[in-house]
Amino acid sequence: MSLVPMRQILDEAAKGGYGVGAFNVNNMEQIQAIMAAAEEVQSPVIVQASRGALKYSQLNYLRHLMLAAVELHPKIPVAMHLDHGNCLATCLLAIELGFTSVMMDGSLDEGGKKPRSYEDNVCVTRKVVEIAHAYGVTVEGELGCLGGIEDGHGAGFSEEEAKKFLTNPDQAEEFAANTGVDALAVAIGTSHGAYKFRRPPTGAVLRMDVIAEIHAKLPGCHLVMHGSSEVSESLQDTVRMYGGYLKPTFGVPVAEVQQGIKHGVRKVNIDTDSRLAMTGAARKLFVCEPAKFDPREWLAPARDAMQAVVQSRIIAFGSTGHAFDYSPITLEDAKALYK
Ligand code: G3H
Ligand code: 13P
Ligand code: ZN
Repeated sequence: MSLVPMRQILDEAAKGGYGVGAFNVNNMEQIQAIMAAAEEVQSPVIVQASRGALKYSQLNYLRHLMLAAVELHPKIPVAMHLDHGNCLATCLLAIELGFTSVMMDGSLDEGGKKPRSYEDNVCVTRKVVEIAHAYGVTVEGELGCLGGIEDGHGAGFSEEEAKKFLTNPDQAEEFAANTGVDALAVAIGTSHGAYKFRRPPTGAVLRMDVIAEIHAKLPGCHLVMHGSSEVSESLQDTVRMYGGYLKPTFGVPVAEVQQGIKHGVRKVNIDTDSRLAMTGAARKLFVCEPAKFDPREWLAPARDAMQAVVQSRIIAFGSTGHAFDYSPITLEDAKALYK
């Protein structure tokens, strides 16, 4: 099997009433962790790379690692997705590299720091949709801005400030109609990174009601939850126990994501939990086995720890066992469907 268009994975998830995890990757061990988890529980999966990941991996390393992943796991439907594309050129680069899905994050300006106007967002997203669909490639857009900042991307809004940039459900309806996006990332109070909430989130800060409202207006559009890491106490504890420093923090409870899935969320973005899991495992090895210096001795447990997190999310999002529900289509097939 080759990489499949993300649209098919999301359409099938909508039919089955489940969500699909979209996990960020930067290197071989992370791709291996995701693929091992998906294989173990026979689930479709979305592997995504940010601009930072593409830079880190010099583009081609990641591309070839993905090709290795589909070669080694031929029965698992996998979409390769560009996370937070900042402009048409970045999306085109990803399409050239063979990505089957791109995100045009027009919620922020090209520098990824300041909110972009609604009109500009529509304009740039529509342009990406026109071109990507001509290649059969899926497009995710974003309306509203998330809080936090990650690797230079994000307006850096605090929990309080982010409240002003939640997705407006009426505007979401208009945005989807005017751009033709396949999936829409919505801002509901979450943020990227480890520092999402200062206390366990209630409905006043984590606005799952906004998701329900958007889904009621836009039942045919696949919704995407960014900033969905749980940042569990146990992941935090392991990092701290072995000398790491993290401020007190709370993430998005998995039960809330499950609520979102009941209201049209089909793609759930997770990066921070994988980072914490890998770092905790590596720190543990460094502290407990100070004489070891073969990188495989810390990369292997780090990879196992990430696999465990990914697997538990896949199970929680309900996509377990759905890998063989359908025959994967190609980008050529998707191209014909968009015509
Ligand atoms: O969108 C945020 C993801 O966690 C990717 O982060 O830009 O540091 O690779 P990154
Ligand atoms: P987390 O930082 O919560 O893992 O979110 C990742 C994300 O949304 C990537 O686009
Ligand atoms: Zn994101």
